[in-house]
Order: sequence, then C-alpha cells, then structure tokens
Amino acid sequence: MSAFDVATVRPDFPILGRMVHGRPLTYLDNAATSQKPAVVIEALRRYYAEQNANVHRGVHLLSEEATAAYERAREVVARFLGLTSSRGCVFVRGATEGINLVAECWGRTHLRAGDEILLTQLEHHANIVPWQAVAERTGAKIVVAPITPRGDIDLVAFRGLLSARTKLVAFAHVSNALGTVNRRPR
Ligand SMILES: Cc1ncc(COP(=O)(O)O)c(C=O)c1O
Repeated sequence: MSAFDVATVRPDFPILGRMVHGRPLTYLDNAATSQKPAVVIEALRRYYAEQNANVHRGVHLLSEEATAAYERAREVVARFLGLTSSRGCVFVRGATEGINLVAECWGRTHLRAGDEILLTQLEHHANIVPWQAVAERTGAKIVVAPITPRGDIDLVAFRGLLSARTKLVAFAHVSNALGTVNRRPR
C-alpha cells in the first residue's frame, strides 16, 4: 500500500490554506473536530441553500428531497464500510454518542452481572465512560488490557484477559495520546 500523500490531500481542505504563526496550518485534532474538504463544504452549502427541511417527517417537496439525499448518503457510507445493508449505518453526532448508543442498547440488553467488558489502557474517555455507566447498571465488570513500554497493546496480556466471561471488547484504531496504530501483527 502506498504511503498517505499529505501534499496531494491538503489542497482539498480550504482551511489548510491558512497561515498560522507564519506557517501553513497543521491540524491534528481531527478526533475532536474534523476539518472539512471543499466537496463537503459545498454539499452543506447546497443543502442549506436548496433542500433544508425535516428528514423523514414531512410530505412537501423539500422534505422529500432532503430525505432522499440523507438516505443516499447512508447508502454511500454503508458501501464504503462494506455493510450488507444501509440499515446498519446509523448517523450520530460523534464518537461518544455512538458508543453510548451501543452501550445503552446492546449493553443494557445483553450484559449481566459477572460478564466482562475488555478495554485497553489506550482508550479515550469516550470509550471508557459509557462502559462504566453500563457496567454500573448491569453488574458487568470492566477489565483493562495493559500497554507495553512502547505504547502498544500487550497482546500476551490481552489474550490472557479474554475468557468466556468477555462479552465485549472495545478499543480504538489509533490512540490520539500516543499515536499507536492498532493493526494485525506482521
Ligand atoms: C481521541 C478522541 N476520541 C474521542 C473523542 C470524543 O469524540 P466526540 O466529541 O465525537 O464524542 C475525542 C474528542 O475530543 C477525542 O479527541
């Protein structure tokens, strides 16, 4: 796989054309707020200028157009993620809301006292607090896999913590604190 070519992608993001403290802007806080490429800004402008209306809750033309655009977007995202049905693609406002949704719906239905939720020491609060809340309500226990001095998940310890009691494993792809990328060991 070829390396990510930053120079090719940067011009797509108008905000990266800004100079900050005399240098081209470098932005690393995408997990909190992602910058938007020109195509996204234009799609939002067009939506608000031409179609803005209730999705799934109106019978007039604008609402039908907004609903069709929303469902088209769901299909595109579902294809991108390799889902078999776009019904499996649920839009939420951010990571915390998405994880809370899984914790409250799936977790509250399926977790019982004595079950374990396995997290890692690399997790952001967004992937800890929802599980703490559901563990408190269901009696499930949170178990945390340690990391190595290099900042990788300690896979030997991780395997040792997996058991028949493990009902859910939740971990990020990339750690914002350490830059660790979790991928299949080579
Ligand atoms: C690394 C990381 N993960 C998760 C979150 C939570 O994201 P959201 O604000 O979408 O709930 C943040 C927010 O700052 C973050 O920086």
